[in-house]
Amino acid sequence: MDLNLNEFLKRSKTMIDQQLPTYISELKAPPSLKEAMLYSISAGGKRIRPVLLLATLQAFNQDEKVGIDVACAIEMLHTYSLIHDDLPAMDDDDLRRGMPTNHKVYGEAMAILAGDALLTYSFQLISDMDVPSITDQMKIKLIQEFAKASGPEGMVGGQVADFEGEKKRLSLQELEYVHHHKTGDLLTYSVLAGAILAGANNIELEKLRLFGKELGLVFQIKDDILDVEGDVSTIGKPIGSDSDRDKSTYPSLLSMDGAKSKLFEHTKRAKEYLYSINLENTLLMEITDYIAERDH
Ligand code: IPE
Ligand code: IPE
Ligand code: MG
Ligand code: MG
Ligand code: MG
Repeated sequence: MDLNLNEFLKRSKTMIDQQLPTYISELKAPPSLKEAMLYSISAGGKRIRPVLLLATLQAFNQDEKVGIDVACAIEMLHTYSLIHDDLPAMDDDDLRRGMPTNHKVYGEAMAILAGDALLTYSFQLISDMDVPSITDQMKIKLIQEFAKASGPEGMVGGQVADFEGEKKRLSLQELEYVHHHKTGDLLTYSVLAGAILAGANNIELEKLRLFGKELGLVFQIKDDILDVEGDVSTIGKPIGSDSDRDKSTYPSLLSMDGAKSKLFEHTKRAKEYLYSINLENTLLMEITDYIAERDH
């Protein structure tokens, strides 16, 4: 891995890892709820969504500080989606980020509520944001896109299509719908939010939206591959969760070789969008390869 990228990943992760617990500690809320929220937020994770936001700001030569609140908000919402995804009613998994899942430690009722709290608090953080260069109009756009990416037309819709697709053989088009929404929309939002904060123009925003869509597929195809080929201690979650629940995945639909060639195809397409807006020499390019080649 390029030293520059490595340093950027480490620096961004440290910044986000420090800020997230601070936001939760500040809350005037039941200590038991704060504990359950902190447990999953502090368990680690790659922080790839914040990294994407900060890398996009850097690509537009903007100060990273402008993006910390929104980056933390995205990571909170993502963590809520993981807590709920692991519940017995959903994927029923026991391990997440190398630790027992939230409901295994705090029980289902608290896990559901800790997820709800992270979701709603994430919107509060963006609306409370106090950054001089960010106008109210930019804030509304940030909130609108966030709601769309995470709600019924976004992540939640994708999660529904995912569980309704269990024990069925989805077509590739149906599987793409699942991947675009359950995973792609929030990754796309991370890039878009960076671009909105940086004051990017509409052409750049639309190209970055297409970039994010391709990147989302790359990310989830790799997640499906790691569910078969990964190492439990490296990925920090169980192997074989998808096949246990009879999910349609890229490897199950196209074979492992087919999944890997799709991974390559969408990585190439993602990069083409970066070329089309002259962002080929930025960290976003290297992060695209990192997402395709990651082992966790
Ligand atoms: C896992 O996301 C859930 C998917 C959308 C595939 P990540 O792989 O980003 O999980 P963490 O945040 O690093 O734990
Ligand atoms: C879930 O996809 C994506 C979201 C949490 C929105 P998966 O069910 O494949 O994620 P993992 O593999 O459990 O992280
Ligand atoms: Mg799932
Ligand atoms: Mg899961
Ligand atoms: Mg998975």
